[in-house]
Amino acid sequence: MKSEQFILALDQGTTSSRALVVNHAGEVVAVSQKEYTQIYPKPGWVEHDPMEIWASQTAVEAEALGKADLRHRDIAAIGITNQRETTVVWDKNTGKPVYNAIVWQDRRTADYCAKLKEEEGLEHKFGDKTGLRLDPYFSGTKLRWILENVKGVRERAEAGDLLFGTIDSWLVWKLTDGEVHITDATNASRTLLYNIHEDDWDDEILKIFNIPRCMLPEVKGSSEIYGHTTKKVPIAGIAGDQHAALFGQACFEPGMAKNTYGTGCFLLMNTGEKAIRSKNNLLTTIAWRINGITEYALEGSIFMGGAVVQWLRDELQLVRSAEECSQLASEVPDAGGMYLVPAFAGLGAPHWDPYARGACVGMTRGTNRKHYCRAALEAIAYQSADLADCMEKDAGMPMTELRVDGGASRSTPLMQFQSDLLKLNVVRPENVETTALGAAYLAGLAVGFWESKEDIVARWKEGARFKPEREDSEMNALATGWKRAVERAKAWEL
Ligand code: G3P
Repeated sequence: MKSEQFILALDQGTTSSRALVVNHAGEVVAVSQKEYTQIYPKPGWVEHDPMEIWASQTAVEAEALGKADLRHRDIAAIGITNQRETTVVWDKNTGKPVYNAIVWQDRRTADYCAKLKEEEGLEHKFGDKTGLRLDPYFSGTKLRWILENVKGVRERAEAGDLLFGTIDSWLVWKLTDGEVHITDATNASRTLLYNIHEDDWDDEILKIFNIPRCMLPEVKGSSEIYGHTTKKVPIAGIAGDQHAALFGQACFEPGMAKNTYGTGCFLLMNTGEKAIRSKNNLLTTIAWRINGITEYALEGSIFMGGAVVQWLRDELQLVRSAEECSQLASEVPDAGGMYLVPAFAGLGAPHWDPYARGACVGMTRGTNRKHYCRAALEAIAYQSADLADCMEKDAGMPMTELRVDGGASRSTPLMQFQSDLLKLNVVRPENVETTALGAAYLAGLAVGFWESKEDIVARWKEGARFKPEREDSEMNALATGWKRAVERAKAWEL
Protein backbone atom coordinates (compact mmCIF):
# COMPACT_ATOMS: atom_id res chain seq x y z
CA MET A 1 0.00 0.00 0.00
CA LYS A 2 1.28 3.44 -0.94
CA SER A 3 1.67 5.97 1.85
CA GLU A 4 1.60 8.94 -0.52
CA GLN A 5 -1.81 10.44 -1.10
CA PHE A 6 -3.14 12.44 -4.07
CA ILE A 7 -6.01 14.72 -5.00
CA LEU A 8 -8.27 13.87 -7.92
CA ALA A 9 -9.57 16.85 -9.88
CA LEU A 10 -12.59 16.34 -12.13
CA ASP A 11 -12.81 19.06 -14.77
CA GLN A 12 -16.08 18.79 -16.65
CA GLY A 13 -15.72 21.28 -19.53
CA THR A 14 -17.85 22.35 -22.47
CA THR A 15 -16.26 20.05 -25.03
CA SER A 16 -14.52 17.40 -22.93
CA SER A 17 -14.49 15.69 -19.54
CA ARG A 18 -11.12 15.45 -17.85
CA ALA A 19 -9.63 13.90 -14.73
CA LEU A 20 -6.27 14.89 -13.29
CA VAL A 21 -4.28 13.38 -10.46
CA VAL A 22 -2.34 15.98 -8.45
CA ASN A 23 0.44 15.25 -5.95
CA HIS A 24 1.39 17.18 -2.84
CA ALA A 25 3.89 19.32 -4.77
CA GLY A 26 0.99 20.56 -6.91
CA GLU A 27 2.20 18.60 -9.95
CA VAL A 28 -0.15 16.84 -12.32
CA VAL A 29 0.94 13.20 -12.38
CA ALA A 30 -1.78 11.83 -14.67
CA VAL A 31 -4.39 13.26 -17.02
CA SER A 32 -7.18 11.65 -18.93
CA GLN A 33 -9.53 13.44 -21.30
CA LYS A 34 -12.52 12.46 -23.40
CA GLU A 35 -14.47 14.62 -25.82
CA TYR A 36 -18.23 14.12 -25.91
CA THR A 37 -21.14 14.92 -28.22
CA GLN A 38 -22.24 18.48 -28.90
CA ILE A 39 -25.91 18.55 -29.87
CA TYR A 40 -27.20 21.43 -32.02
CA PRO A 41 -30.97 20.82 -32.47
CA LYS A 42 -31.56 24.25 -34.09
CA PRO A 43 -29.43 27.28 -34.97
CA GLY A 44 -28.43 28.95 -31.70
CA TRP A 45 -29.37 25.92 -29.58
CA VAL A 46 -26.66 23.86 -27.84
CA GLU A 47 -27.30 20.77 -25.71
CA HIS A 48 -25.38 17.99 -23.97
CA ASP A 49 -26.60 14.57 -22.86
CA PRO A 50 -26.17 14.51 -19.04
CA MET A 51 -25.80 10.70 -19.08
CA GLU A 52 -22.97 10.97 -21.62
CA ILE A 53 -21.33 13.61 -19.45
CA TRP A 54 -21.54 11.26 -16.48
CA ALA A 55 -20.24 8.28 -18.48
CA SER A 56 -17.32 10.27 -19.90
CA GLN A 57 -16.47 11.64 -16.48
CA THR A 58 -16.37 8.19 -14.85
CA ALA A 59 -14.34 6.83 -17.79
CA VAL A 60 -11.64 9.49 -17.46
CA GLU A 61 -11.56 9.10 -13.70
CA ALA A 62 -10.83 5.38 -14.04
CA GLU A 63 -8.30 5.99 -16.78
CA ALA A 64 -6.41 8.70 -14.86
CA LEU A 65 -6.23 6.51 -11.74
CA GLY A 66 -5.02 3.63 -13.92
CA LYS A 67 -2.30 5.74 -15.53
CA ALA A 68 -1.03 6.80 -12.10
CA ASP A 69 -1.41 3.21 -10.82
CA LEU A 70 -3.65 4.33 -7.95
CA ARG A 71 -6.69 2.96 -6.12
CA HIS A 72 -9.49 5.06 -4.64
CA ARG A 73 -7.92 4.67 -1.20
CA ASP A 74 -4.88 6.63 -2.47
CA ILE A 75 -7.08 9.67 -3.09
CA ALA A 76 -7.33 12.09 -0.16
CA ALA A 77 -10.16 14.06 -1.75
CA ILE A 78 -11.94 14.90 -4.99
CA GLY A 79 -12.27 18.46 -6.28
CA ILE A 80 -14.84 19.28 -8.97
CA THR A 81 -14.73 22.10 -11.45
CA ASN A 82 -17.14 22.53 -14.30
CA GLN A 83 -18.52 24.43 -17.26
CA ARG A 84 -20.84 26.89 -15.57
CA GLU A 85 -24.51 27.84 -16.15
CA THR A 86 -25.28 24.65 -18.11
CA THR A 87 -28.63 23.47 -16.80
CA VAL A 88 -29.76 19.95 -15.91
CA VAL A 89 -33.11 18.79 -14.54
CA TRP A 90 -33.52 15.20 -13.42
CA ASP A 91 -35.96 12.95 -11.60
CA LYS A 92 -34.75 12.18 -8.10
CA ASN A 93 -36.59 8.84 -8.06
CA THR A 94 -35.29 7.41 -11.32
CA GLY A 95 -32.06 9.44 -11.70
CA LYS A 96 -33.07 10.18 -15.30
CA PRO A 97 -32.70 13.66 -16.81
CA VAL A 98 -36.04 15.00 -18.12
CA TYR A 99 -34.35 16.83 -21.02
CA ASN A 100 -30.84 17.32 -22.37
CA ALA A 101 -28.62 19.76 -20.50
CA ILE A 102 -29.08 23.24 -21.99
CA VAL A 103 -25.57 24.56 -22.47
CA TRP A 104 -24.37 28.03 -21.45
CA GLN A 105 -23.86 28.93 -25.14
CA ASP A 106 -27.52 28.24 -25.96
CA ARG A 107 -29.47 31.35 -27.10
CA ARG A 108 -33.05 29.98 -27.10
CA THR A 109 -34.22 32.29 -24.33
CA ALA A 110 -32.99 35.49 -25.99
CA ASP A 111 -36.49 36.78 -26.76
CA TYR A 112 -37.69 36.13 -23.22
CA CYS A 113 -34.67 37.99 -21.82
CA ALA A 114 -35.33 40.90 -24.19
CA LYS A 115 -38.96 41.02 -23.02
CA LEU A 116 -37.99 41.16 -19.34
CA LYS A 117 -35.49 43.86 -20.17
CA GLU A 118 -37.48 46.03 -22.51
CA GLU A 119 -41.12 45.56 -21.53
CA GLU A 120 -40.69 45.03 -17.84
CA GLY A 121 -37.52 47.06 -17.19
CA LEU A 122 -36.01 44.39 -14.97
CA GLU A 123 -32.34 44.53 -16.01
CA HIS A 124 -31.33 46.62 -13.00
CA LYS A 125 -33.21 44.55 -10.49
CA PHE A 126 -31.49 41.39 -11.71
CA GLY A 127 -28.12 43.14 -11.80
CA ASP A 128 -28.45 44.44 -8.26
CA LYS A 129 -29.38 41.07 -6.83
CA THR A 130 -27.33 38.64 -8.89
CA GLY A 131 -24.45 40.70 -10.32
CA LEU A 132 -25.44 39.33 -13.76
CA ARG A 133 -27.43 40.54 -16.75
CA LEU A 134 -30.63 39.48 -18.42
CA ASP A 135 -28.88 37.35 -21.01
CA PRO A 136 -29.66 33.79 -22.14
CA TYR A 137 -26.15 32.83 -21.00
CA PHE A 138 -27.25 32.14 -17.41
CA SER A 139 -29.15 29.15 -16.03
CA GLY A 140 -32.37 30.80 -14.79
CA THR A 141 -34.12 31.32 -18.10
CA LYS A 142 -32.91 27.91 -19.34
CA LEU A 143 -34.51 26.23 -16.32
CA ARG A 144 -37.70 28.18 -16.90
CA TRP A 145 -37.67 27.04 -20.54
CA ILE A 146 -37.54 23.39 -19.47
CA LEU A 147 -40.38 23.92 -16.99
CA GLU A 148 -42.51 25.66 -19.62
CA ASN A 149 -41.75 23.49 -22.64
CA VAL A 150 -41.12 19.90 -21.62
CA LYS A 151 -44.38 18.04 -21.18
CA GLY A 152 -45.33 17.18 -17.61
CA VAL A 153 -42.20 18.70 -16.10
CA ARG A 154 -43.87 21.56 -14.22
CA GLU A 155 -46.28 19.23 -12.39
CA ARG A 156 -43.48 16.82 -11.48
CA ALA A 157 -41.28 19.69 -10.28
CA GLU A 158 -44.05 21.12 -8.13
CA ALA A 159 -44.69 17.68 -6.67
CA GLY A 160 -41.05 17.67 -5.52
CA ASP A 161 -39.92 14.87 -7.85
CA LEU A 162 -37.47 16.86 -9.97
CA LEU A 163 -34.11 18.40 -9.11
CA PHE A 164 -32.26 21.21 -10.83
CA GLY A 165 -28.52 21.60 -10.89
CA THR A 166 -25.57 22.96 -12.77
CA ILE A 167 -23.05 20.30 -13.83
CA ASP A 168 -21.33 20.26 -10.41
CA SER A 169 -24.64 19.37 -8.71
CA TRP A 170 -25.34 16.66 -11.26
CA LEU A 171 -21.89 15.08 -10.76
CA VAL A 172 -22.07 15.21 -6.96
CA TRP A 173 -25.54 13.68 -7.01
CA LYS A 174 -24.29 10.85 -9.26
CA LEU A 175 -21.02 10.36 -7.36
CA THR A 176 -22.91 10.03 -4.05
CA ASP A 177 -25.53 7.75 -5.60
CA GLY A 178 -28.32 10.30 -5.14
CA GLU A 179 -27.48 11.10 -1.50
CA VAL A 180 -26.36 14.71 -1.87
CA HIS A 181 -28.03 17.55 -3.79
CA ILE A 182 -25.84 20.64 -3.43
CA THR A 183 -23.94 23.25 -5.35
CA ASP A 184 -21.26 25.71 -4.30
CA ALA A 185 -21.55 29.50 -4.08
CA THR A 186 -19.59 30.13 -7.29
CA ASN A 187 -21.86 27.97 -9.40
CA ALA A 188 -24.96 29.36 -7.66
CA SER A 189 -23.75 32.86 -8.55
CA ARG A 190 -24.07 32.00 -12.27
CA THR A 191 -27.70 30.93 -12.23
CA LEU A 192 -29.44 34.35 -12.22
CA LEU A 193 -31.45 32.94 -9.31
CA TYR A 194 -29.02 33.60 -6.49
CA ASN A 195 -28.71 36.79 -4.44
CA ILE A 196 -24.94 37.21 -4.15
CA HIS A 197 -25.22 39.77 -1.34
CA GLU A 198 -27.68 37.83 0.84
CA ASP A 199 -26.14 34.43 0.02
CA ASP A 200 -29.47 32.80 -0.76
CA TRP A 201 -31.76 31.90 -3.64
CA ASP A 202 -33.88 34.97 -4.36
CA ASP A 203 -37.62 34.43 -3.83
CA GLU A 204 -38.64 37.41 -5.92
CA ILE A 205 -36.66 36.12 -8.92
CA LEU A 206 -37.97 32.58 -8.43
CA LYS A 207 -41.48 34.06 -8.58
CA ILE A 208 -40.75 36.00 -11.80
CA PHE A 209 -39.46 32.81 -13.46
CA ASN A 210 -42.06 30.63 -11.72
CA ILE A 211 -39.44 28.18 -10.45
CA PRO A 212 -40.33 25.97 -7.46
CA ARG A 213 -37.71 26.44 -4.74
CA CYS A 214 -37.89 22.75 -3.79
CA MET A 215 -35.97 21.77 -6.93
CA LEU A 216 -32.93 23.92 -6.12
CA PRO A 217 -29.77 22.51 -4.53
CA GLU A 218 -28.48 23.58 -1.12
CA VAL A 219 -25.68 26.14 -1.55
CA LYS A 220 -22.39 25.27 0.16
CA GLY A 221 -18.92 26.80 0.37
CA SER A 222 -16.23 26.07 -2.22
CA SER A 223 -13.93 24.12 0.08
CA GLU A 224 -15.58 21.70 2.51
CA ILE A 225 -16.58 18.05 2.66
CA TYR A 226 -19.95 17.74 0.91
CA GLY A 227 -20.24 13.97 1.05
CA HIS A 228 -18.45 10.78 0.03
CA THR A 229 -18.45 8.86 -3.20
CA THR A 230 -19.69 5.29 -3.28
CA LYS A 231 -15.98 4.37 -3.05
CA LYS A 232 -15.77 6.40 0.20
CA VAL A 233 -13.63 9.23 -1.13
CA PRO A 234 -14.57 12.68 0.26
CA ILE A 235 -15.75 15.27 -2.27
CA ALA A 236 -14.25 18.38 -0.75
CA GLY A 237 -13.92 21.19 -3.30
CA ILE A 238 -16.23 22.69 -5.93
CA ALA A 239 -15.91 25.79 -8.06
CA GLY A 240 -17.04 26.84 -11.51
CA ASP A 241 -14.12 26.53 -13.89
CA GLN A 242 -13.27 30.23 -14.10
CA HIS A 243 -13.34 30.66 -10.34
CA ALA A 244 -11.17 27.55 -9.95
CA ALA A 245 -8.69 29.01 -12.45
CA LEU A 246 -8.52 32.27 -10.47
CA PHE A 247 -7.78 30.18 -7.37
CA GLY A 248 -5.27 27.97 -9.21
CA GLN A 249 -3.49 31.11 -10.44
CA ALA A 250 -3.15 32.15 -6.78
CA CYS A 251 -4.91 35.47 -7.51
CA PHE A 252 -5.69 35.96 -3.83
CA GLU A 253 -5.13 39.71 -3.51
CA PRO A 254 -7.65 42.31 -4.72
CA GLY A 255 -6.56 43.61 -8.12
CA MET A 256 -4.97 40.34 -9.25
CA ALA A 257 -6.44 39.07 -12.53
CA LYS A 258 -6.31 36.08 -14.84
CA ASN A 259 -7.58 35.33 -18.31
CA THR A 260 -8.40 31.77 -19.33
CA TYR A 261 -8.25 31.03 -23.05
CA GLY A 262 -10.59 28.02 -23.27
CA THR A 263 -13.66 27.52 -25.46
CA GLY A 264 -14.51 31.06 -24.48
CA CYS A 265 -12.29 33.56 -22.69
CA PHE A 266 -12.97 34.59 -19.15
CA LEU A 267 -11.14 37.45 -17.49
CA LEU A 268 -11.62 37.61 -13.73
CA MET A 269 -10.23 40.10 -11.26
CA ASN A 270 -10.29 39.46 -7.52
CA THR A 271 -12.04 42.33 -5.68
CA GLY A 272 -11.76 40.84 -2.18
CA GLU A 273 -14.75 40.91 0.15
CA LYS A 274 -16.24 43.80 -1.80
CA ALA A 275 -18.76 43.08 -4.57
CA ILE A 276 -18.11 45.81 -7.15
CA ARG A 277 -21.10 46.60 -9.33
CA SER A 278 -19.79 47.13 -12.85
CA LYS A 279 -20.55 50.38 -14.66
CA ASN A 280 -18.99 48.97 -17.83
CA ASN A 281 -21.11 45.93 -18.60
CA LEU A 282 -19.04 43.36 -16.74
CA LEU A 283 -20.42 40.84 -14.27
CA THR A 284 -20.05 40.67 -10.52
CA THR A 285 -19.54 37.13 -9.39
CA ILE A 286 -18.55 35.13 -6.32
CA ALA A 287 -14.84 34.27 -6.54
CA TRP A 288 -15.19 31.61 -3.81
CA ARG A 289 -16.61 31.10 -0.36
CA ILE A 290 -14.22 29.56 2.14
CA ASN A 291 -14.89 29.14 5.88
CA GLY A 292 -18.05 31.21 5.49
CA ILE A 293 -16.22 34.20 3.98
CA THR A 294 -17.36 35.23 0.52
CA GLU A 295 -14.92 36.92 -1.81
CA TYR A 296 -15.97 38.45 -5.10
CA ALA A 297 -14.61 39.04 -8.58
CA LEU A 298 -15.38 41.15 -11.59
CA GLU A 299 -15.76 39.04 -14.70
CA GLY A 300 -15.70 39.65 -18.41
CA SER A 301 -17.01 36.71 -20.44
CA ILE A 302 -16.36 36.14 -24.12
CA PHE A 303 -18.26 33.27 -25.71
CA MET A 304 -15.80 32.45 -28.50
CA GLY A 305 -12.12 32.19 -27.59
CA GLY A 306 -10.17 29.07 -28.49
CA ALA A 307 -13.37 27.85 -30.17
CA VAL A 308 -12.53 30.17 -33.07
CA VAL A 309 -9.48 28.03 -33.79
CA GLN A 310 -11.64 24.89 -33.59
CA TRP A 311 -13.96 26.50 -36.13
CA LEU A 312 -11.04 27.10 -38.52
CA ARG A 313 -10.02 23.48 -38.01
CA ASP A 314 -13.37 21.65 -38.05
CA GLU A 315 -15.74 23.76 -40.13
CA LEU A 316 -13.50 25.66 -42.56
CA GLN A 317 -10.82 22.93 -42.45
CA LEU A 318 -8.11 25.53 -42.99
CA VAL A 319 -5.77 23.93 -40.44
CA ARG A 320 -5.33 20.48 -38.93
CA SER A 321 -4.52 21.61 -35.39
CA ALA A 322 -4.28 24.58 -33.06
CA GLU A 323 -0.48 24.37 -33.32
CA GLU A 324 -0.66 24.70 -37.09
CA CYS A 325 -2.94 27.73 -36.71
CA SER A 326 -0.42 29.34 -34.39
CA GLN A 327 2.45 28.50 -36.74
CA LEU A 328 0.70 29.93 -39.82
CA ALA A 329 -0.30 33.06 -37.88
CA SER A 330 3.32 33.67 -36.94
CA GLU A 331 4.37 33.53 -40.63
CA VAL A 332 2.68 36.87 -41.41
CA PRO A 333 3.42 40.14 -39.62
CA ASP A 334 -0.27 41.03 -39.33
CA ALA A 335 -3.74 40.03 -40.56
CA GLY A 336 -3.34 42.22 -43.67
CA GLY A 337 -6.23 44.45 -42.62
CA MET A 338 -8.62 41.57 -42.02
CA TYR A 339 -10.78 41.27 -38.89
CA LEU A 340 -12.70 38.18 -37.85
CA VAL A 341 -15.46 38.88 -35.31
CA PRO A 342 -16.44 35.46 -33.93
CA ALA A 343 -19.92 36.41 -32.71
CA PHE A 344 -21.17 32.90 -33.53
CA ALA A 345 -23.16 32.74 -30.30
CA GLY A 346 -23.84 36.45 -30.06
CA LEU A 347 -21.51 38.79 -28.20
CA GLY A 348 -20.90 38.61 -24.46
CA ALA A 349 -19.20 41.32 -22.41
CA PRO A 350 -19.12 44.24 -22.86
CA HIS A 351 -21.65 44.27 -25.73
CA TRP A 352 -24.22 41.68 -24.59
CA ASP A 353 -25.85 41.28 -27.96
CA PRO A 354 -27.42 37.82 -28.33
CA TYR A 355 -28.42 38.74 -31.90
CA ALA A 356 -24.88 39.49 -33.14
CA ARG A 357 -23.40 36.94 -35.56
CA GLY A 358 -19.93 36.23 -36.97
CA ALA A 359 -18.33 38.59 -39.48
CA CYS A 360 -15.14 38.68 -41.53
CA VAL A 361 -14.28 42.11 -42.91
CA GLY A 362 -11.37 43.93 -44.51
CA MET A 363 -10.27 41.11 -46.82
CA THR A 364 -8.55 41.88 -50.12
CA ARG A 365 -7.52 39.75 -53.11
CA GLY A 366 -4.27 39.02 -51.27
CA THR A 367 -5.90 37.64 -48.09
CA ASN A 368 -4.79 34.05 -47.51
CA ARG A 369 -5.23 31.38 -44.87
CA LYS A 370 -2.32 32.70 -42.84
CA HIS A 371 -4.24 35.94 -42.48
CA TYR A 372 -7.33 33.98 -41.41
CA CYS A 373 -5.29 32.23 -38.73
CA ARG A 374 -3.75 35.50 -37.62
CA ALA A 375 -7.15 37.26 -37.59
CA ALA A 376 -8.63 34.41 -35.52
CA LEU A 377 -5.91 34.66 -32.88
CA GLU A 378 -6.03 38.45 -32.89
CA ALA A 379 -9.82 38.32 -32.39
CA ILE A 380 -9.25 36.42 -29.16
CA ALA A 381 -6.82 39.10 -27.99
CA TYR A 382 -8.99 42.05 -29.08
CA GLN A 383 -11.99 40.69 -27.21
CA SER A 384 -9.88 40.13 -24.10
CA ALA A 385 -8.42 43.63 -24.33
CA ASP A 386 -11.94 45.11 -24.47
CA LEU A 387 -12.66 43.33 -21.19
CA ALA A 388 -9.43 44.49 -19.55
CA ASP A 389 -10.26 48.05 -20.45
CA CYS A 390 -13.69 47.85 -18.77
CA MET A 391 -12.18 46.13 -15.76
CA GLU A 392 -9.62 48.81 -15.15
CA LYS A 393 -12.36 51.44 -15.31
CA ASP A 394 -14.57 49.52 -12.86
CA ALA A 395 -11.74 48.79 -10.46
CA GLY A 396 -10.45 52.35 -10.72
CA MET A 397 -6.87 51.14 -11.09
CA PRO A 398 -4.64 49.85 -13.87
CA MET A 399 -3.80 46.17 -14.00
CA THR A 400 -0.20 45.49 -13.15
CA GLU A 401 0.05 42.27 -15.12
CA LEU A 402 -2.25 39.59 -16.50
CA ARG A 403 -1.88 35.93 -15.61
CA VAL A 404 -3.00 33.62 -18.41
CA ASP A 405 -3.92 29.97 -18.75
CA GLY A 406 -6.05 27.58 -20.81
CA GLY A 407 -5.19 25.77 -24.04
CA ALA A 408 -4.80 28.78 -26.32
CA SER A 409 -2.42 30.48 -23.86
CA ARG A 410 0.18 28.11 -25.31
CA SER A 411 0.17 30.14 -28.54
CA THR A 412 3.16 32.47 -28.57
CA PRO A 413 1.85 34.82 -31.33
CA LEU A 414 -1.42 35.17 -29.44
CA MET A 415 0.25 35.94 -26.12
CA GLN A 416 2.67 38.42 -27.69
CA PHE A 417 -0.16 40.20 -29.51
CA GLN A 418 -2.15 40.25 -26.27
CA SER A 419 0.72 41.92 -24.45
CA ASP A 420 1.21 44.47 -27.26
CA LEU A 421 -2.49 45.30 -27.27
CA LEU A 422 -2.81 45.59 -23.48
CA LYS A 423 0.56 47.34 -23.18
CA LEU A 424 1.03 45.06 -20.20
CA ASN A 425 3.13 42.09 -19.12
CA VAL A 426 1.29 38.84 -19.82
CA VAL A 427 2.49 36.03 -17.57
CA ARG A 428 1.97 32.34 -18.23
CA PRO A 429 2.63 29.92 -15.35
CA GLU A 430 4.71 26.79 -15.85
CA ASN A 431 1.59 24.73 -15.38
CA VAL A 432 -1.36 26.07 -17.39
CA GLU A 433 -3.72 23.46 -15.88
CA THR A 434 -4.82 26.06 -13.37
CA THR A 435 -8.53 25.20 -13.53
CA ALA A 436 -7.96 21.64 -12.40
CA LEU A 437 -5.30 22.76 -9.94
CA GLY A 438 -7.72 25.27 -8.42
CA ALA A 439 -10.28 22.52 -7.84
CA ALA A 440 -7.58 20.28 -6.39
CA TYR A 441 -6.37 23.03 -4.06
CA LEU A 442 -9.91 23.78 -2.83
CA ALA A 443 -10.44 20.09 -2.05
CA GLY A 444 -6.96 19.65 -0.55
CA LEU A 445 -7.38 22.62 1.77
CA ALA A 446 -10.65 21.20 3.10
CA VAL A 447 -9.07 17.89 4.14
CA GLY A 448 -5.75 19.28 5.42
CA PHE A 449 -3.76 17.95 2.45
CA TRP A 450 -2.48 21.53 2.13
CA GLU A 451 -2.45 23.92 5.05
CA SER A 452 -3.16 27.36 3.69
CA LYS A 453 -3.28 29.67 0.67
CA GLU A 454 0.45 30.33 1.23
CA ASP A 455 1.10 26.71 0.22
CA ILE A 456 -0.61 27.49 -3.08
CA VAL A 457 1.26 30.73 -3.64
CA ALA A 458 4.49 28.77 -3.13
CA ARG A 459 3.48 26.27 -5.81
CA TRP A 460 2.70 28.89 -8.49
CA LYS A 461 5.73 29.18 -10.81
CA GLU A 462 6.22 31.63 -13.67
CA GLY A 463 6.74 29.88 -17.00
CA ALA A 464 6.91 32.68 -19.61
CA ARG A 465 6.54 36.46 -19.62
CA PHE A 466 5.46 38.43 -22.71
CA LYS A 467 6.35 42.12 -22.71
CA PRO A 468 4.88 44.82 -24.96
CA GLU A 469 7.07 45.32 -28.05
CA ARG A 470 5.07 47.27 -30.62
CA GLU A 471 4.41 50.99 -30.81
CA ASP A 472 1.32 52.31 -29.03
CA SER A 473 0.20 54.25 -32.12
CA GLU A 474 0.25 51.09 -34.24
CA MET A 475 -1.73 49.11 -31.67
CA ASN A 476 -4.26 51.91 -31.18
CA ALA A 477 -4.92 52.03 -34.93
CA LEU A 478 -5.48 48.26 -35.01
CA ALA A 479 -7.84 48.48 -32.01
CA THR A 480 -9.87 51.18 -33.76
CA GLY A 481 -10.28 48.87 -36.77
CA TRP A 482 -11.49 46.10 -34.44
CA LYS A 483 -14.17 48.37 -32.94
CA ARG A 484 -15.48 49.19 -36.44
CA ALA A 485 -15.56 45.49 -37.31
CA VAL A 486 -17.53 44.63 -34.15
CA GLU A 487 -20.18 47.20 -35.05
CA ARG A 488 -20.76 45.33 -38.34
CA ALA A 489 -21.46 42.08 -36.48
CA LYS A 490 -24.04 43.49 -34.06
CA ALA A 491 -27.83 42.96 -34.25
CA TRP A 492 -27.53 40.67 -37.27
CA GLU A 493 -30.04 37.94 -36.43
CA LEU A 494 -33.42 39.59 -36.13
O1 G3P B 1 -19.28 30.17 -18.40
C1 G3P B 1 -18.91 29.12 -19.22
C2 G3P B 1 -17.58 28.56 -18.84
O2 G3P B 1 -17.60 28.13 -17.52
C3 G3P B 1 -17.17 27.48 -19.82
O3 G3P B 1 -15.83 27.22 -19.71
O4 G3P B 1 -13.71 26.15 -20.26
O5 G3P B 1 -15.80 24.87 -20.58
O6 G3P B 1 -15.24 26.76 -22.07
P1 G3P B 1 -15.10 26.17 -20.73
